[in-house]
Amino acid sequence: MILLTGVTGKTGGETAKQLLEKGASLRALVRDAAKAADLKAAGVELVVGDIADAKVVSRALEGVDKAFLTLPNGEQQQANEKQFTDLAVAAGTDHLVKMSSMEAVPTAKTPIPQGHWAVEEYIRASGLDWTMVKPNFFMQNLLASAGSIKEKRKFFLPMGDGTTGMADIRDIGAVCAEVLTGEGHAGQSYEITGPEILSFYDVADQFSEVLGEQVEYVAMPMDQFRERMTGILAPWHLNAVCELFREIDEIGLDQTTDTFRALLGRKPTSLRRFIEDHLALFK
Ligand SMILES: NC(=O)c1ccc[n+]([C@@H]2O[C@H](COP(=O)([O-])OP(=O)(O)OC[C@H]3O[C@@H](n4cnc5c(N)ncnc54)[C@H](OP(=O)(O)O)[C@@H]3O)[C@@H](O)[C@H]2O)c1
Repeated sequence: MILLTGVTGKTGGETAKQLLEKGASLRALVRDAAKAADLKAAGVELVVGDIADAKVVSRALEGVDKAFLTLPNGEQQQANEKQFTDLAVAAGTDHLVKMSSMEAVPTAKTPIPQGHWAVEEYIRASGLDWTMVKPNFFMQNLLASAGSIKEKRKFFLPMGDGTTGMADIRDIGAVCAEVLTGEGHAGQSYEITGPEILSFYDVADQFSEVLGEQVEYVAMPMDQFRERMTGILAPWHLNAVCELFREIDEIGLDQTTDTFRALLGRKPTSLRRFIEDHLALFK
């Protein structure tokens, strides 16, 4: 039995879908059963409750061999993930797979990757078998700009001319499904990128080519971005996102990894393919 968190979100949802296609036995910890009705209909056992509730998590972990931990960024993420790890040890879980990020390194300077690294270290010291899935920027983050691309043929982000090796969450779900069902993944950290390094100006060029109309990336000043997102993201989260985006602008990424191809035996999804697959949202 595999326990999944976050199945009503992006990475957990993709992982659940691809595990179901492999015929895996799944249990999911969800806050709202109605949001996971499709998964329940497909055979996923649901345990309803909040990840901060140790009793609910212990119940969800009963009889579980492998657990997949993905949580949104927030002030409580680190505490909740550490508690989950302790409860997995107590429940006799064999293997814990954590959604981390590529920026999570010992020298990380901003809150989100620092938190991921702290939890990674905690898991590595727990005695559990572990695997860290460490993706770069999600292509699906661009869906937040879909309305603006559709209506104004512009999108506004504060990354300057910074670069990412953005990856599609469908590929990340495929990696997680492989890690949770395949052999030889214990003790591994998998850094996942897409097939190319792109600035957001390059992203705009690809939108222009696929949509057949000029799309412009507007490099928004960070103060303006912060102001726009105030009240939408909680203060800790907003500050952490601004710091992360500033790091993309100032440092960025200059090399893709070959991890996806090595694990799945095929090329990772290109940005062009991602745009084509979501065309109705952008055009
Ligand atoms: N975005 C990126 O570019 C990127 C890149 C690399 C790594 N990451 C990492 O990916 C992770 C986020 O994954 P995601 O995009 O899949 O997140 P997401 O789409 O926001 O989904 C979060 C999931 O967690 C569930 N959840 C939230 N709070 C919970 C709680 N207290 N108890 C139980 N469940 C709870 C949500 O359930 P509800 O439906 O009930 O809210 C939802 O299913 C982060 O840790 C981030 O650092 C992101």
